[in-house]
Amino acid sequence: MTILDGKKTSEQIKLEIAGEVQQLISDGRKVPHLAAVLVGSDGASQTYVNSKVKDCEQVGFQSTLVRLGADINENLLLQTVQDINDNEEIDGIIVQLPLPDHISVQKVTERIRPEKDVDGFHPVNVGRMVKGLPAYISATPYGIMQLLERYQVETTGKHCVIIGRSDIVGTPMSILMARKATPGNCTVTLCHSRTPDIKAHTLQADVVIAALGRPGFLTGDMIKDGAVVVDVGITRVPDATKKRGYALKGDVDFETVSSKCSFITPVPGGVGPMTRAALLWNTLQAAKNSFYQSVSITD
Ligand code: GUN
Repeated sequence: MTILDGKKTSEQIKLEIAGEVQQLISDGRKVPHLAAVLVGSDGASQTYVNSKVKDCEQVGFQSTLVRLGADINENLLLQTVQDINDNEEIDGIIVQLPLPDHISVQKVTERIRPEKDVDGFHPVNVGRMVKGLPAYISATPYGIMQLLERYQVETTGKHCVIIGRSDIVGTPMSILMARKATPGNCTVTLCHSRTPDIKAHTLQADVVIAALGRPGFLTGDMIKDGAVVVDVGITRVPDATKKRGYALKGDVDFETVSSKCSFITPVPGGVGPMTRAALLWNTLQAAKNSFYQSVSITD
């Protein structure tokens, strides 16, 4: 059994990105600049955004963090996004989700200029990804694809079962694993909350991607010997023995699954750090303007 070490791989990717930043500087170009918008004070969102800012520093990017109160009205948030769209100094924008209930995620997502949408959530980027055109691919699916590629995990002709159909992970993952590419070329089954017998599907799977947000859901009896298992879950579970008062739990029961599978991502240290590296990668592409250089998109 091989651990798909997202921590180690992401450090390698960050080194590569830092090298590209040095190249940009010696070419007389400006360094990539990411703007992150955080609305409210949700604990997990604050942690994620702070990590993203720290990652930017580590690779030599500039970053701007815009903090807004949870009671901000939708128009003001939309205007904030518009201002960042119009700011030539900024290459990439993310608006951390979830947003408060009175704000439309769809409106905010669609306000971001596709060329600066390094989260890959804008319908233009999702559509381009589905068609196999150059696009920003959202960070978690992209990070998983990078991990599978760098460990040379064979996926062609395999059966991939994905659990969870979220916009951010399950749905794009199903497109990427099915497409004619490596990694990819899988027969894909997308399971979700209305799937009657998920175990019947996972038992058939060569690759299982668990992205449902239920700690310990996938157990050893649900997979076949030699399966590849990717754990996207990172739920905070109360744990008095931890300094922070919680532990991070994946969707996979590591103990029972790891004794049967061929590859597995740990939690923490698997998909999480790869997601962070993928956002940096997208921001680098935005700064180099390489995805859209031959295509003009208007917002
Ligand atoms: N909330 C959870 N994951 C993400 C992500 O990848 N991007 C943003 N903007 N918000 C998130």
